[in-house]
This record gives sequence, C-alpha cells and structure tokens, in this order.
Amino acid sequence: MEAAIKQSSLDIDAIRAQFPVLDQEVNGYPLTYFDNAATSQKPIRVIEALNQYYSAYNSNIHRGVHSLAEKATNAYEATRVSLQKFINSGQKEEIIFTKGTSESINLVAATYGRQNIAKGDEIIITGLEHHSNIVPWQMLCEEKEAVLKVVPISDKGEIDLEDFNALLSDKTKIVSVAFASNALGTINPVKEIIEAAHKVGAVVLLDSAQAVAHLEVDVQSLDCDFLAASAHKMYGPTGVGFLYGKQHLLEEMPPYQGGGEMIKEVTFEKTTYNDIPFKFEAGTPNIADIIALNEAIGFINDLGKENIRIYEDELLKYATEKLEAIDKVKLIGTAKHKVGVLSFIIEGMHPFDVGMMLDARGIAVRTGHHCTMPLMQRFELEGTIRASFAVYNTFEEIDTMVASLQKITSRIK
Ligand code: ALA
Repeated sequence: MEAAIKQSSLDIDAIRAQFPVLDQEVNGYPLTYFDNAATSQKPIRVIEALNQYYSAYNSNIHRGVHSLAEKATNAYEATRVSLQKFINSGQKEEIIFTKGTSESINLVAATYGRQNIAKGDEIIITGLEHHSNIVPWQMLCEEKEAVLKVVPISDKGEIDLEDFNALLSDKTKIVSVAFASNALGTINPVKEIIEAAHKVGAVVLLDSAQAVAHLEVDVQSLDCDFLAASAHKMYGPTGVGFLYGKQHLLEEMPPYQGGGEMIKEVTFEKTTYNDIPFKFEAGTPNIADIIALNEAIGFINDLGKENIRIYEDELLKYATEKLEAIDKVKLIGTAKHKVGVLSFIIEGMHPFDVGMMLDARGIAVRTGHHCTMPLMQRFELEGTIRASFAVYNTFEEIDTMVASLQKITSRIK
C-alpha cells in the first residue's frame, strides 16, 4: 500500500472477513468491488438472518396467534425499533417499511402530495437528483398543474444556498433533496435547506439512500419532515427500505395502497383505516428481508458511524489525489463535502469501454448516467465512470484501480 495515514480504528481485514462475496476472483484477479453506491455487499450475519427465518420460523406477521407467527412478528417489529434508534426518530410508528427509497418517495408524492398540492403550488428539487426524486414530483405536478423548480448545480457539483433561497416563496409546498448525491457524492447543506423551507411553511423530504450507511442521520436534530432510504445500500437486503415521516403528517395523510393490514374495519359500504405505521403497509410485506435488515443496522452500529465516516473519508481523499494525478482523467464533482463517491471521465474514451477494461482486471465500477440524466446533461456528458466506496474497501484496491487507469490512459494517443 502506498502511504496513507490511517486515523480510523477499524480492523478492515476483520470486516472483510464478514463478507463472503469479497473473497473471489473475477476474470482471474481478486475482486475489487467499487460499486457500493449501486448496492453494497452483505455481511454473513445478514445472509444468516435470511436463512434462519426461512429455515426456522417462516410465518406471516400480525395475523396469527401461533408461536411461529409471534416470533416472526417480534423480529419484524424489532427492525422498526432499531431503525427508529438508528435515525433517532421520536416514535417507532414514524417508520414505514417500503420496497426502498423510490417507493418511499412515491408514497409521499401520492399521499401527502395529492392531498396538499394544488394548482400553481411549487415543489423544489435540486439539479443533482436521482430520477427517483424527480419523476414522482413531475407526475404530481402534471396531475395538479403545479410547478417543479430546480436549484442549479455549480461546476463543482454543489448547490448555492442563495439560489435555493431565491426559489423559495409562499408558493413552495414541498422541498425534496438528496442528502448525498449518488452520482457525484456531494453532501447537500440539508440542515440549512430544512430551516429555510420551514420558514415559508414547506415540508422537506430527504432522499437519504446514499447517506444512511455513511453519515450520521438524526431526523430530530435535522427536523426533516420525511426521510427515505433503502436497505440494500446499507449492507442489508434488496427489496426493502423505509420512510420516516413526522407522526402528525403520517396521521393526516391518506393511505397509499388498499389491502390487508392497513384497515381497522371493512364493510362493503365503508372502510376505516388502521393506525400508523400499518395504514401504509398493505399486504404481506417482505418479512425476511426486513428481519435481516436488523442485522445490517447492527453491523453499522457495531463499527460506529463516526469510525465508518472517518475511514471512508480517508479512502476518498486518497483516491481523489491519485486520480487527479493521472493525465487525461477528469473528476466530475469536486464538492467540498462528499461521501465516498468518485465520478470521472477519461478524455477520448467512452465510460462503458473504461468500465469493461476495469472489469477485465476484476474491478467493478458503475458507468453511465447513474439514473441522473439531467445532471449528466448539466455537465454535457453522456455519463461517467463511478467508483463508490464502502467500509470494507482498502487503499490497496484504490492502488489497483489507479494502476489500471494509468495503463488505460497511457494507450491514448
Ligand atoms: N441508485 C443506484 C446507483 O446510484 C442504483 O447506482
């Protein structure tokens, strides 16, 4: 490993040993997994929780009085309590299980949005949003004849709070922004955004898909109204995520979907709805994966958010310096505050080709528009190459990628 002064106290070898998938060769080389912003790998305790549920107590929840049903219900609800603590929400009822960040945002748009947005109202997002935090608001604006306003992005990939404040008015009803950008890594000034939005009476949703595994997230100190995230980007299973909402907002919102569990009483004439959170959890949920998510939360808690952040910052700093030193590599997104995401292009080469060449050396990165087409248009790019880090990544892996990029760029005439 080339010099890097480690400040964090984490034992990365011991952490890596908990991730079976990392111990393999791809195309004849040890796997270097740098696609963590797309999905992180899962520690053995998460995989075992899935196995344990299906082999020992598979059962539906909230519906049966038998022992297996009780065990499954308790394990499922234990994840809700862990999530409540994880993001420091005041009540466990403020945590709604969903399929993931996209569904959480769609839920808010379809319920709170439909109930509260009228013709001429305004919704503000930023220019670096993922499609999941653009399209649901566009659909709502179309339906209600409301207006979608977009905070511009600077050359560094940041928003300017003055630009945001200039868009705010008493017409602003919803502000929905990424806590951290999936494509560039930029951490938005969410505390300031929330304070300013509240002054004009708007509610704020934080798309925290890229934040919860990397940054301290405290919904009470942030005072956000809604927060959405996915399990699979925080070492948990795919297909589940959650929505946090302030209790009084969730209680006032209409249900999202109709079905079992979200009701109190049904007659053919009228249905009364269940209390939160169940009002928003129609149908049999993804029980196994929600139970396993508890282990992902445990994994993060055991390492400590602060230790993870310090270590990933070191990886980001190291990789940024190394990539900046390679001729023909251009970083896209050089914000002052970032999570461990490095987007870059190589002059004269298509990102897909670079991705394939890195894959041939066992290095997994994402290439393309990263579900942020408007952001790519802002930079006049078709796409970028993106390396994104997790706590099990190493400085040696960065050296491996840098050596490959040096080789690739040395062939460009
Ligand atoms: N949103 C995920 C990413 O950024 C899939 O790759």
